[in-house]
Amino acid sequence: MSRGEPPVEGVGIAASLGLPNDQFATAWRAIVLPPDAKQRLARVAATTLRLRLAGIPFESLPLHGIILLVGLPGTGKTTLARGLANQIAVAASSLGRFSFIEVDPHSLMSSAHGRSQKAVEQLLREPIAESARRSPTIVLLDEVETLAANRSALSLDSNPIDVHRAVDAVLTGVDRLAREFPTLLFIATSNVPEIVDAAFTSRADFVYSFPLPDIDAREKILRDTVEAVAVAFPDARRVLEDGSVRRAAKAADGIDGRQLRKLVAVAIAMRKEAKVDPNLMSGSDLVDAVSQRESIQ
Ligand SMILES: Nc1ncnc2c1ncn2[C@@H]1O[C@H](COP(=O)(O)OP(=O)(O)O)[C@@H](O)[C@H]1O
Ligand SMILES: [Mg+2]
Repeated sequence: MSRGEPPVEGVGIAASLGLPNDQFATAWRAIVLPPDAKQRLARVAATTLRLRLAGIPFESLPLHGIILLVGLPGTGKTTLARGLANQIAVAASSLGRFSFIEVDPHSLMSSAHGRSQKAVEQLLREPIAESARRSPTIVLLDEVETLAANRSALSLDSNPIDVHRAVDAVLTGVDRLAREFPTLLFIATSNVPEIVDAAFTSRADFVYSFPLPDIDAREKILRDTVEAVAVAFPDARRVLEDGSVRRAAKAADGIDGRQLRKLVAVAIAMRKEAKVDPNLMSGSDLVDAVSQRESIQ
C-alpha cells in the first residue's frame, strides 16, 4: 500500500492497493485494441460515475457500475482491467484517491462445503463496503464465471445448492452496493461468457468483447515485446528494422496477444549457439518461430 488507505484483507481478496499505480499505468499502455476501444471503455466508466453521482433514481436508470470484459484467453482482459482501473482513478481524481481490490473468486467458491454463500456475503458486506465507504473503489472480479456461474446450467446433482446460493448472494450484494455507493465500480472479466449467469450479465452497464489482434495489432504487440527485450539486450533492436516483424505479424493470424509475446522468446530460443544470447535474435528467427508454431499445432 502506498499513501493513505489501509490494506483490505480477508477471504476472497487477492490484492488491494491505492490508485494511481505505475504498474497499472503500464498495463493500460501495453494492451493493443482496435482504435478508440480503450478510450471508449474509459468514457463508459466516467459516464457511469457521473450519472450515478448525479443522484438519478436507480429505478429510472439502473446503473450497477459493472463493466464486463469478455473474450478468448490471452486477449488482454485481466491486464486491461487493471489498466482501466488506473485510468478511471486518474480521470476522476477530483473524487479523491481510489482504492483497488482484486477478488479471488476461486478461494471464495472453494470455501468448505456450504460456506461459499457466507464467504461471498461477508466479502461484499465487509471489506468491499467498508472500502467504498472510505474512498472511491474499483473491484476486479477476474474470471467472474467462477463466482456468477449460470445457475440454469448447474446441475443440482453435481453442484451443491450452496453454489446457487452463492450466485444469489453475488447478485443481491451487487444490487445493494450499487444503490448505496455511487463511486464503487466493478470490472469483471470472463473467458467463457456463455456460462456467466444471465442475471449478472444483464447487470453490466457495458460489455466489451475482446477481439483476437488483427495484423496491425499483432505487429504492434511483437514490436513492443522486442523493444522490451532490447532494453536488456540492445542488439535485438535490429529485428525491428528489416520488415520481419510485419512478416511475422502477417503469418501469425489467429494467435492471441499472450502467445504473440511468448513467440519472441521462442524466436530467441531458435538460435543454436550453446549459450543463450538474446542479442543474436534475427528477424528470420521471429518469422520461423511463427511458422514452426503452425507446424506443431
Ligand atoms: N491485445 C493485446 N495487446 C497487447 N498485449 C496483449 C494483448 N492481449 C494479451 N496480451 C498480453 O498477454 C498477456 C496475458 O494477457 P491477459 O490480460 O492475462 O489476458 P486474458 O486475461 O484475456 O487471458 C499479457 O502479458 C498481455 O500483455
Ligand atoms: Mg485473465
